[in-house]
Amino acid sequence: MPIKEVQRIIRVDHAGERGAICIYRAQRFIARLLYKDLVKQLDEMLAHEKQHCDTFNTWLRVNNVRHCYALWLWSLGGYLLGGVTALMGKKAIWVCTQAVESTVLHHLERQLAYLEVHDQSAFQAVMSIKKDEEEHLNFGIELGSNSILYLPIRLVVKSSTKFAIWLSTRL
Ligand SMILES: [Fe+2]
Ligand SMILES: [Fe+2]
Repeated sequence: MPIKEVQRIIRVDHAGERGAICIYRAQRFIARLLYKDLVKQLDEMLAHEKQHCDTFNTWLRVNNVRHCYALWLWSLGGYLLGGVTALMGKKAIWVCTQAVESTVLHHLERQLAYLEVHDQSAFQAVMSIKKDEEEHLNFGIELGSNSILYLPIRLVVKSSTKFAIWLSTRL
């Protein structure tokens, strides 16, 4: 069995993907009604997140590692963040994407440095999702906004993502 820290890392990443799936699902649901031009792009990101979730799920299963106890919290939080931001407008969707994905990527970088030395299979799993997350971040930067108006969204999204990560490494 992989060492505790490695188990924790992939467990949190799996939970995070669950959260991402729920964010994009909620945003897609609202985009279908209000901003049809965004649906295709949201669909594409949602498909990536499902793939990422599968990758980590498989790793956990193969290595006999349990899921995070707070999966329900990630789902609930994801639906909430996705739903609320989508109702605030198109730009808010991309501001949310930027905030989530930049927090995620920052987190991944730190994990990769650790995993490279401690566990190759976990390293490969995390590495395999990095390119997609960078693409999502770029959509967020390109289509979002740096306006001060969106500062509250950025702060809420970033802090809730960090809080969920912090909590899940302890559960
Ligand atoms: Fe992802
Ligand atoms: Fe993503």
